[in-house]
Amino acid sequence: MSSLAILNIGQLVSLIGPNRGRVGQEMSDLGLIYGAGILVQDDRIRAVGPSEDIALEMPADAVIIDAGGRVVTPGFVDAHTHLVFGGNRCQEFELRSQGATYQEISSKGGGIHSSVEATRSVDEESLLARSQKWAHKLIQMGTTTAEIKSGYGLNADSEFKMLRVIRDLRRTTPLRTVGTLLAAHAIPKDQDKDDYLKHITTHMIPEASCSGLARYVDIFVEENYYSAECARKIAGAAKKHGLGLRMHVDQMRDGHGAALAAELGAITADHLEQTSPAGIGAMKAANTIPVLLPTSVFGLRHEKYPVARAMIDAGLPVVLATDFNPGSSPSPSMPFAMSLAMLNMGMSAAECLTAATINAAASLELAHELGSLEPGKVADIVIHEWEDYREIPYWIATPGVRTTICRGQKFDKVS
Ligand code: NIG
Ligand code: FE
Repeated sequence: MSSLAILNIGQLVSLIGPNRGRVGQEMSDLGLIYGAGILVQDDRIRAVGPSEDIALEMPADAVIIDAGGRVVTPGFVDAHTHLVFGGNRCQEFELRSQGATYQEISSKGGGIHSSVEATRSVDEESLLARSQKWAHKLIQMGTTTAEIKSGYGLNADSEFKMLRVIRDLRRTTPLRTVGTLLAAHAIPKDQDKDDYLKHITTHMIPEASCSGLARYVDIFVEENYYSAECARKIAGAAKKHGLGLRMHVDQMRDGHGAALAAELGAITADHLEQTSPAGIGAMKAANTIPVLLPTSVFGLRHEKYPVARAMIDAGLPVVLATDFNPGSSPSPSMPFAMSLAMLNMGMSAAECLTAATINAAASLELAHELGSLEPGKVADIVIHEWEDYREIPYWIATPGVRTTICRGQKFDKVS
C-alpha cells in the first residue's frame, strides 16, 4: 500500500456534501477547510482533517507534500470535449478575426468537415499520440477526468478509430476518459443522410454499446445538421442499447432543443445559448442537467452566453465544460471557462468551482467517485499556486496549477 499526505493546505475546497449535482444555494457552499491535510492511500482519499491530525495519523513511510498554505481543489471534471482530432483550424480562427462567421466558414467547406477530413487521414497510432499530448496538457491544467466525443469520423471506421483512441488514452495517460459516440455531428458529404442515420441507429450504436467503447450517445441538433426527428430516432436506439443521451442543442438559435432533450430523457443538454425560459422549465421538470460552454461562445465571437443565473435560480445543477475542439473552442482550460462564466454569465467563483467539479461528475454519473475531496473518493486532487480559490478564475488565462494528483499519482508542473 502506498500513502501520500498533503499537509499545510491553506484553503481546502472540499465540496463535502451529497453525491449528486448541487443546486441553488448549495452551489455556493464549497465546504472550505482552512489549515487542512489529506491522507491518500493508493488511489483513494483515506482522511481529510486538520493538517496536524493528518500528520499524526499518516504512516511513517508516507510521501509528504507540503502545500505551503495554498489552495487545494478536486481535479476538474470536463464533461464536454472533442479532444481527439486530426489537423487544426487556425486558418478559420484567422478568418473569424476578420469577421467571417462559423456558418459562413462551414458553408464554404470548413468547419466540422475540415476536421473530418483531417481526422480520417490520420492513422490510429498517430491520432493516439496527438491526443496523448492534449491529455497531458489537461492534467497540467488541473483536469483529471474528461468526457470525449467522437464525431470527426462520420463513418463507422473513423468513428470507432476515435472511440478506441479515447479508450487508449485512459490506459496510457493519467486522464480518466469517458467515451461518447457523436456520429450524428454533421451530415457526411459522401453518404446519403437517411442511410447514414439508419446506419448509426442499427449498427454504430449497438456496436458502441456492446464493445464498451461509449457510455453515451450525442447528437448535434441544428439547422443544416440534425433535426428533432433524427434526435428521436437516435434517442430510441441509445435507450434500446443501454447508452445515456447527451445533446448539443440551442447553440445557434432556439430550436426548442432544451425541451426536446427533456422529452427524450437526455441526461444532459449542452450549449443552451439560445434557450428560452420555457426550455429551462422543461429541463427542471425532467431533471436534465445543463452543460454550459462559454469558451465556444467566446471562440465564435458570439454575443449571447447561456443564462446560467436563471438556470441556477430555477434549481438546475449547472455544469461548466470547455467544449475543447479545433473549431469553436480551441482551449481545454477549465479555469478559463470559469473566468468567462464569471464575467459573462453572472456566476460567482464558488458556483464555477461547483459546476466544474461535483456537478460535472454528476453529469457523468460519477458523483459517488469524483468531484469532492472526502474519504472513500478517488484521489484526484489539484494543488494550485494561489492562496484564495477566487484567484483560480481571476488570473485570466494564467497557468496556476502546481501539482495534479490523479488516482493518488503525483504530477508536478513541468517548469
Ligand atoms: O460543440 N456544435 C457542434 N460541435 C462543436 C463544434 C465542433 C467543430 O466546430 O469542430 C461545438 O461547438
Ligand atoms: Fe461540442
